[in-house]
Amino acid sequence: MSFKEQIIQDRIPRHIAIIMDGNGRWAKRQGMARMFGHRQGVETVHRITEAAAELGVEYLTLYAFSTENWNRPKEEVDALMVLLVDTIVKETPTLMKNNVSLQTIGDLSRLPQATRNKFLECIEQTSQNTGLTLVIALSYSARWEIIEATKRIASAVKDGELLLEDINEEVLSNYMTTAQMPDPDLLIRTSGELRISNFLLWQLAYSELYFTNCLWPEFTNEEFYHAIVDYQHRERRFGKTSEQI
Ligand code: FPP
Repeated sequence: MSFKEQIIQDRIPRHIAIIMDGNGRWAKRQGMARMFGHRQGVETVHRITEAAAELGVEYLTLYAFSTENWNRPKEEVDALMVLLVDTIVKETPTLMKNNVSLQTIGDLSRLPQATRNKFLECIEQTSQNTGLTLVIALSYSARWEIIEATKRIASAVKDGELLLEDINEEVLSNYMTTAQMPDPDLLIRTSGELRISNFLLWQLAYSELYFTNCLWPEFTNEEFYHAIVDYQHRERRFGKTSEQI
């Protein structure tokens, strides 16, 4: 039986986050330049987004460009920015067709203006769609996010808008870039690396983690369904005992 057939329909994770890793290694194996891998990675983004929408996943968050990725060679950063814009322009009709709305998390102020504007246009155009929310983490790192949240909380306390004793998990969550979204139920990382790499550190506190050796360009829909089936067979205790669940 295929993994797709094994999926339990009433236990679909509401929020799946993915660290898409291995584009460069995949390209190198083909004897090609790294950008060839990123372009093939876009095909996987397209497929997995459609698969997630079809399954009824509510949020799909993809780590597309980290704060640390700004330190890559300038040619790769520039080419990635062009690829991101081209992808978003090309994919907007597909997002509309699949009732998908786009959101971003990250420090968009660091993006070239043209890139930022295209993302903002697509966010606006898809804002009324009611199916899957596709969240692209762009110029994002969790430590950046936590610092920003801390500054805004400190400022609210200083201005008398927030009482120190009222700060709790819910308040802090609402200062994160993911306010309004449920925490990820499942985190998938491709390419065999066993790290979180500064991604959603606050939000992943109780997420189930799934690591696969597949490189992102070769991450098949079946592998995606495999991750979901694996998740569905785990017991999520959130610190409680099995008997309490
Ligand atoms: C990681 O592989 C991949 C990235 C840093 C970029 C991922 C971006 C895309 C696939 C484009 C996505 C587009 C949209 C619109 C979401 P790597 O370069 O770190 O690979 P390596 O570890 O093998 O070198």
